[in-house]
Amino acid sequence: QTERTLAMIKPDAFKNMGKIINAISQSGFLISKLRVAKLSKQEAQEFYAVHRGKPFYDGLTDFMSSGRICALELVAPGAIRKWRELIGPTDSNQARAEAPGSLRAQFGTDKTYNACHGSDAPDTAAEEVAFFFGPGRYPGKCDLA
Ligand code: CMP
Repeated sequence: QTERTLAMIKPDAFKNMGKIINAISQSGFLISKLRVAKLSKQEAQEFYAVHRGKPFYDGLTDFMSSGRICALELVAPGAIRKWRELIGPTDSNQARAEAPGSLRAQFGTDKTYNACHGSDAPDTAAEEVAFFFGPGRYPGKCDLA
């Protein structure tokens, strides 16, 4: 049934935003919300709080606060899984081997610089949509410098 997910075009792929939005549209998603934003280090730490303590947490949050991102709410039947299939495996090198047409294969570099993010479940999708689009989120949060 109709579902929503939070998609993010990460700083490394921001320059390819047009191509990625085209791929999203061609795949049959409705783009219901869209916002260009810039995360502070603290906001990146909050967004990825579930990964706090992992060895890649500091590098991940440095990267995610290094430039502009595009956050999108995507709506489609099975949107969460559908978007994760379009982006491909977390590691862009693995994506090039296993899903060469995927967005991470085309626009990412490795496990950290992997072009796109997608929510992994309905509860995290709701939280992540609220992170960018909930009440009081703009202006006031993730504002452009
Ligand atoms: P994302 O879908 O945004 O969700 C968590 C992110 O952590 C993931 O994409 C990667 O960018 C990053 N990540 C996950 N596992 C690793 C890892 N082993 N090494 C470095 N970065 C990772």
